[in-house]
Amino acid sequence: MDSKSTKKRDLSKYFLPDIRQARKRIKKADIIKDGFEIPANIINYGEGKTYHIKTFGCQSNLRDTEVMMGMLELIGYEYNEDVNTSDLVLLNTCAVREHAESKVFADIGILDRIKKSNPNFIFGVCGCMAQEEAVVNRILKSNFNVDFIFGTHNVHRILNLLEQVIFEKNLVVEVWSHEGNVIENLPSKRTNNLKGFVNVMYGCDKFCTYCIVPMTRGKIRSRRKEDILDEVHQMISEGYKEVTLIGQNVNSYGIDFDNGENYLFNNLLEDVAKTGIERVRFTTSNPWNFTRSIVDTMKKYPNIMPHIHLPIQSGDETILKKMNRPMKIGDYIDLVDYIRANIPNCSITTDLIVGFPNETKEQFNKTLELYKRIEFDNAFTFIYSKRDGTVAAIIPDEIPLSEKKERLQELNEMVKTFSKKNNEKYVNKVLDVLVDGPSKKDKTVISGYSPQWKVVNFTGSAKSGEIVKVLITSASRFTLNGKMID
Ligand code: SAH
Ligand code: SF4
Ligand code: F3S
Repeated sequence: MDSKSTKKRDLSKYFLPDIRQARKRIKKADIIKDGFEIPANIINYGEGKTYHIKTFGCQSNLRDTEVMMGMLELIGYEYNEDVNTSDLVLLNTCAVREHAESKVFADIGILDRIKKSNPNFIFGVCGCMAQEEAVVNRILKSNFNVDFIFGTHNVHRILNLLEQVIFEKNLVVEVWSHEGNVIENLPSKRTNNLKGFVNVMYGCDKFCTYCIVPMTRGKIRSRRKEDILDEVHQMISEGYKEVTLIGQNVNSYGIDFDNGENYLFNNLLEDVAKTGIERVRFTTSNPWNFTRSIVDTMKKYPNIMPHIHLPIQSGDETILKKMNRPMKIGDYIDLVDYIRANIPNCSITTDLIVGFPNETKEQFNKTLELYKRIEFDNAFTFIYSKRDGTVAAIIPDEIPLSEKKERLQELNEMVKTFSKKNNEKYVNKVLDVLVDGPSKKDKTVISGYSPQWKVVNFTGSAKSGEIVKVLITSASRFTLNGKMID
């Protein structure tokens, strides 16, 4: 491949991202069943070649990676663990915080150097960062020798774009900003043969003021229940034991259907449970419209696992309002109490942001107070990160980063304390563990997950995919330890 840096770029050829367009919700999504083709002239192009995809961010990205793996393998590419010896490398990126973005730019620099020493090497940038104007402009301006850049709405076109890279030997940029449809029947290569993600909805229309996701992933698009259930049945027939239903806000599932059918997330959850798959999980749920009927469905089906990830973000109502997540803390506590009353031992985890613009110490203390009140099983905690194109990005912020770091540390201490305390509740109890295989740290120990999504390390003899009973003998912040009892 020729070096692109010496060529003058004709920007009119590119489909560049446009964040203002991305914010619009102008068109209903179509369900497209034949949106994918293998271009005839690259049908065997990957034979004898290898690829690597480095994935950042959330489950949506992981699932997109599996789809791209499936497509690349259709034309003969083989997966390669090692970036340095791969013929094709893709960075499937996350835009949710600045830190995630910096890591990607460091990787682009590394791949750029590989390209300089090997002109036949192909590399591309895709995922949520590709949807951002500032990112694509930076890549173009820095003259990195990237071969192709494509967005989250263009994943199904990866082979068409690769074809252009191969034959036109020019940088290819295709980032659609608002087209988002639901593309069914795409090939995919699942990376785990026991547990798999199933998309139930794409995009997000919540527009929390700090969050870039509604722009990078587009409008909410729910998949048809038939397509989801077919996928789960297919997975059961392939031996899968667990599905996790994924979406940016799964409990918005179905609100975009315009066929008058009132088929919502609790209905879908019930139908997936009825397929009989051993374990059903789901993530993630904005608590704002997490209905009691979802809890009632969980209670009814023992194969729906007792774990709910319920990001609250802050314990202060004023901050929540500024985040455009106007939930009353009392309502959140009531919801958690309802969950616990109906599903004993349901683990509850959350996401928290510290240092939202001008968050006062008193407001931060409310987050600590809520944490203490709920005693969450675990939390993902973040320092607020300014994202261009979001509403919060224009709020002048008086709080120094050093103060935010201190708050994060204080919060993390609390997270640790309650994780350990919650895990200790399971000592001397017996849990059903879905076995993954030998533990990463110690091959003589077997590792798996409890229904509550806790890692269990145990002694005994069990094969991957089995569900076994384990007596818990000790607990740390991160794991439960025990021995198999049958
Ligand atoms: N759709 C999910 C969240 C997806 S993003 C939900 O609403 O629950 C995952 C987490 O990243 C969020 O819950 C939030 O805690 C964090 N996050 C998102 N944008 C952020 C930002 N600008 N700065 C810091 N953390 C952020
Ligand atoms: Fe972002 Fe809010 Fe949508 Fe979650 S619900 S993806 S935090 S806008
Ligand atoms: Fe990141 Fe995009 Fe997911 S921004 S969190 S990879 S939806």
